[in-house]
Amino acid sequence: MSQKVRVAVIGVGNCASSLVQGVEYYRHAEPGDFVPGLMHVDLGGYHISDIEFSAAFDIDKEKVGRDLGEAIGRGQNNTVTFATVGQLGVPVHRGMTHDGLGKYLSEVIEKAPGPTADIVRILKDTGTDVVVNYLPVGSEMATKWYAEQILEAGCAMVNCMPVFLAREDYWQERFRQHNLPIIGDDIKSQVGATIIHRVLARLFRERGVKLEHTYQLNFGGNTDFLNMLERERLVSKKISKTNSVLSQLDHPMAKEDVHIGPSDYVPWLRDRKWAHIRLEGRSFGDVPLNVDLKLEVHDSPNSAGIVIDAVRCCKLGLDRGLSGALEGPSAYFMKSPPIQVADPVARDLTEAFIAGRVGADCLSGRGPAGATGGPVAPALAPATNGASDGHGAELDRRAGAEATAGAGG
Ligand SMILES: NC(=O)c1ccc[n+]([C@@H]2O[C@H](COP(=O)([O-])OP(=O)(O)OC[C@H]3O[C@@H](n4cnc5c(N)ncnc54)[C@H](O)[C@@H]3O)[C@@H](O)[C@H]2O)c1
Repeated sequence: MSQKVRVAVIGVGNCASSLVQGVEYYRHAEPGDFVPGLMHVDLGGYHISDIEFSAAFDIDKEKVGRDLGEAIGRGQNNTVTFATVGQLGVPVHRGMTHDGLGKYLSEVIEKAPGPTADIVRILKDTGTDVVVNYLPVGSEMATKWYAEQILEAGCAMVNCMPVFLAREDYWQERFRQHNLPIIGDDIKSQVGATIIHRVLARLFRERGVKLEHTYQLNFGGNTDFLNMLERERLVSKKISKTNSVLSQLDHPMAKEDVHIGPSDYVPWLRDRKWAHIRLEGRSFGDVPLNVDLKLEVHDSPNSAGIVIDAVRCCKLGLDRGLSGALEGPSAYFMKSPPIQVADPVARDLTEAFIAGRVGADCLSGRGPAGATGGPVAPALAPATNGASDGHGAELDRRAGAEATAGAGG
């Protein structure tokens, strides 16, 4: 077992910046320290400082050709600086653009000249273990193209954005065929709008309040929000965020009663994100019960600790010869995992995964125990593979099914 976790990033934006800074910031943490946003300083034998950046890919001329330590402070990146990162000796290579730059991003980002780098060769030559995908929302073709490179190079993948791979049968099978693990899709922040909304939806369910209407309006001033002004790029993001909340209910909701999604771009907020969440329900005696709250966070650091844990879980998967979607860690770390369960259940499963007590398929029980799979936790056995894209009624149907899957927890 290699003592290091060699990590490559695709997209050197704000999230990559927070990740790189976080690894530097907590480099000397003691194993017993409480680090906000991390499950463990030492996760399954890997300390935070065991994460080494091996390669980076972008297409922005302000970043390509620069050292990763420098590139995280360039271009449109505007997240908070909480650590000083020096030269890392990792150049940012020219990636493949495909549909990475939408209408709004192409107004502020100029593509670097030159050909696409040989991604497979770079990943192999740098001994990369895990590749983190941080492409902009809506980069469907680009994400799938990079996934092919990752498979060919023999790396594991953490898919932080909402192009669905880990939750899709097709891609799960591709990763299984290559004997590689994947955690995805769409990173769930430490305390972000999604988890707060999920927990409140779950609370309504557990305390017998019927949720009748709900919304989550998000806005911020980073390029993620600028890009999401292009509504056509948002389909999967909206599905991802909506399903994540509806999966916690035990009754379906009509499409018109739920509105969850990114809503606007306010430049002066920079990397801060504000979320307004409202839940309207009916309690005992059919009387109304409403919750209205506002969350203010720095968007990118809010997910970086989760990614530090996710890449280390992926490396454990590689060490143990696991393949396909790692279902427990995906359920805990991601908004759109292959199988949704309640967050405390997902956390227990992830701890069980780290300790080596369950394998990749701990929720579906699909693989043979001890090979790609592992023992199925009996109380957690129900499996609904929510795998297809969809809108409206399809989304409601899936959410209902996923709520049933979650009920076991
Ligand atoms: N808390 C969070 O911030 C959070 C939570 C969940 C999901 N996400 C998702 O993570 C992703 C990254 O977020 P971010 O804030 O870092 O975005 P960002 O806009 O700051 O960074 C995206 C980077 O990708 C680069 N890029 C665009 N097309 C490319 C291509 N084809 N190849 C290589 N690089 C390319 C851009 O130049 C930019 O540097 C987004 O999809 C976002 O929705 C973020």
